[in-house]
Amino acid sequence: EKGGYETFMLKEMYEQADALADTIFDRVARGDGVDLDEEGALDEAILSRARRIVIVACGTSYHAGLIGRYAIETWARLPVEIDIASEYRYRDPVVGPGDLVIGITQSGETADTLAAMRLARERGATVLAVTNVMGSQATRDADGVLFTRAGLEIGVAATKTFTCQVAVMQLLALRLAELRGCLPAERIAELVAGIRRLPSAVAEALERLGPAVDTLAERWWQGDFFLYLGRHVGLPVALEGALKLKEISYISTDAYAAGEMKHGPIALLDEMTPVICVATDSPVLDKVVSNMQEVRARGAHVIAITTEGNDQIAHHAEAILPVPRTDWMLQPILAVLPLQLLAYGIARRRGLNVDQPRNLAKTVTVE
Ligand code: F6R
Repeated sequence: EKGGYETFMLKEMYEQADALADTIFDRVARGDGVDLDEEGALDEAILSRARRIVIVACGTSYHAGLIGRYAIETWARLPVEIDIASEYRYRDPVVGPGDLVIGITQSGETADTLAAMRLARERGATVLAVTNVMGSQATRDADGVLFTRAGLEIGVAATKTFTCQVAVMQLLALRLAELRGCLPAERIAELVAGIRRLPSAVAEALERLGPAVDTLAERWWQGDFFLYLGRHVGLPVALEGALKLKEISYISTDAYAAGEMKHGPIALLDEMTPVICVATDSPVLDKVVSNMQEVRARGAHVIAITTEGNDQIAHHAEAILPVPRTDWMLQPILAVLPLQLLAYGIARRRGLNVDQPRNLAKTVTVE
């Protein structure tokens, strides 16, 4: 059942190219645009009516939502609010008609996410579920559904469902942009082409990253604290990398917006600290590089996720993990891969059961 892999998590990480292909391809089959109602589970009229987007989710799904926010704001020019479902449901949120509330939940059964979706619906909002499980409660509680088609995920740590959630949010953002006439046709075509290339880019990345990740896991597996930094779409990648490491290796991690480092977390740095920086090509790369210099000036160790072909960043880092180039808004799907693999390599070296980490459940049906 593990198909020759030592764990489900490893198998599921390596399934990401296929899972993405299944999630993406027939939604971009009609040439240069996006089609989201091919399953009859989503009436696109609910997208056209949206005046504001609210995203609610927990854990890894929340990180996918954060990436979705950048795409929706940038491409579709709609205001987006996002909150952790367990916070949203108890804060008496301002929500109602005109709002499209998107609950992202792999299992479709997370109690807090379902409660946040129900609350929004009671107040007159339209609710869309992004889920991996057909027939799950989220599909019944929503006005429309977008499925990730990652296949069953057994490892407790979300991997392939995360990259597929990000892809769905990007497709949704692009469809919203089309419906609202926000992007020139050429730009849409370019982004669609970029999305189509993601599965093969993921396959390439997974193939190439192994040796560099192994070297780093070997060097750092006994570490007791890791800091993760990123900006813009690199920030949710940092948050997700930090969550992966802490949940399967039980190592303490922190993830911060790189610009916030000097407002507190810089005090944590010393000669023992590995700092993982998401430093892929983007308009904010120079800013990330300055933060990397600040980290090094404190004697800490920079491990940078970079874009293949950018040889400059290596001068500012002790180690680099390059991923294939894509449009910078699409980069998270690739940039998260080395962080998943690194967390895995470290946890395995510590002799831990990565498929069933202590204290965690795959589906959280109680709040
Ligand atoms: C982390 C992880 C959890 C889930 C969270 C939400 O690897 O798996 O943080 O993402 O429990 O679960 P769903 O997406 O099923 O609502």
